[in-house]
Amino acid sequence: MKKKWTTFPPKANQPLADNPSGSKRVVVTKELPGNAWKKILSQAACQVEVCTSLDALAANELRSAIGTHCDGVIGQLNEVWNNDLLSALNAAGGKVYCNYAVGFNNVDVAAATSLRIAIGNTPEVLTETTAEMGVALTFAAARRIAEADTFVRAGKFTGWQPSLFLGELLAGKTLGVVGAGRIGSAYAQMMVEGHKMNLIYFNTKPNVALEKYFVSYGKFLSSQGQTAVRCTMASTIEELLSAADVVALFPALNEKTHHLINRKRLSLMKENAILVNLSRGPVIDEAALVNHCTRHPNFRVGLDVYENEPAMEKGLRELPNIVLAPHLGSATLWTRENMAVLAARNLAAVLNGYPAWNGSGIMKFLGEHPPKAAPSIINARDLGMTFSHQ
Ligand code: DGY
Repeated sequence: MKKKWTTFPPKANQPLADNPSGSKRVVVTKELPGNAWKKILSQAACQVEVCTSLDALAANELRSAIGTHCDGVIGQLNEVWNNDLLSALNAAGGKVYCNYAVGFNNVDVAAATSLRIAIGNTPEVLTETTAEMGVALTFAAARRIAEADTFVRAGKFTGWQPSLFLGELLAGKTLGVVGAGRIGSAYAQMMVEGHKMNLIYFNTKPNVALEKYFVSYGKFLSSQGQTAVRCTMASTIEELLSAADVVALFPALNEKTHHLINRKRLSLMKENAILVNLSRGPVIDEAALVNHCTRHPNFRVGLDVYENEPAMEKGLRELPNIVLAPHLGSATLWTRENMAVLAARNLAAVLNGYPAWNGSGIMKFLGEHPPKAAPSIINARDLGMTFSHQ
């Protein structure tokens, strides 16, 4: 079906390719929350075309949106920005592609670099929001909230019962975090501080800051007469899976993390463990998960992402021990508006020839007077961009 588009500011009469005012043509493949991003692009002399249809654009639709003249694109995580599409952008004069997400597994960054296209993403503004969603899914799974909600709505609640929807107590148990980057660390802090859990984490390298934080937090707990929490790095994922009562997945998706959780590794987990995935669907072998959850009714899962999103493995939808969310990790109004701001700032900065940011904190890009830099360009170093920290 033909997708709907809108344009701002109103289009000039002549095609932009011949526009004597030199305005830049920018394509935004989905309407984004808030208005701040529109102001940023308008102030950067961009003529913007926004796709207002809700369904994802296919490769041929993206290609025709790029057309023969396109300076930059803000796109979505469910579009495949491969060498073909990036080459089309390059041929149309494009200098920058910004993913409206922190994750960028849908973008061939190496191809972009060889085509001299800067790739932006939107980190930090979604850290707490996504971690909070992880906490929400963990408790929804542990306390069987979705099952209970369905039960009540069906008029089946006829009175208090001692054994109705018994779930898992998390206080004092062991939390396993796979991928202790920004979001995984924020989730670990929320869970450990809130529920005095011991942490075991698996990461590509030790997270020294996180470990120090929990040493200090443990000392604080001891000073209050409470048991100190422990934080250890697992040397293998197997070690984490067999020790943890809750396993939360936050790794970036790449060749190494594809099907990181498979049949064999699921079998190492406790029968009544809780597994949540806030990263990308293919980190779990979904067919193996359906099989495992069918055979282990006390094993509970919270999923925000799916292997072949939005499709789901046969049988998954029917399993009562899996709580399902439609990829809502970053879905708070504040975060989504500010992801749009960062995407627009990345794009405008590259088109203005600004350097890439390597200063501390990205929040200063959310205000009215941001640094004259692109807040987050993944391939800045490989492109040989200059850097600024003020
Ligand atoms: C991201 O930014 O990568 C998230 O998955 C979006 O919700």
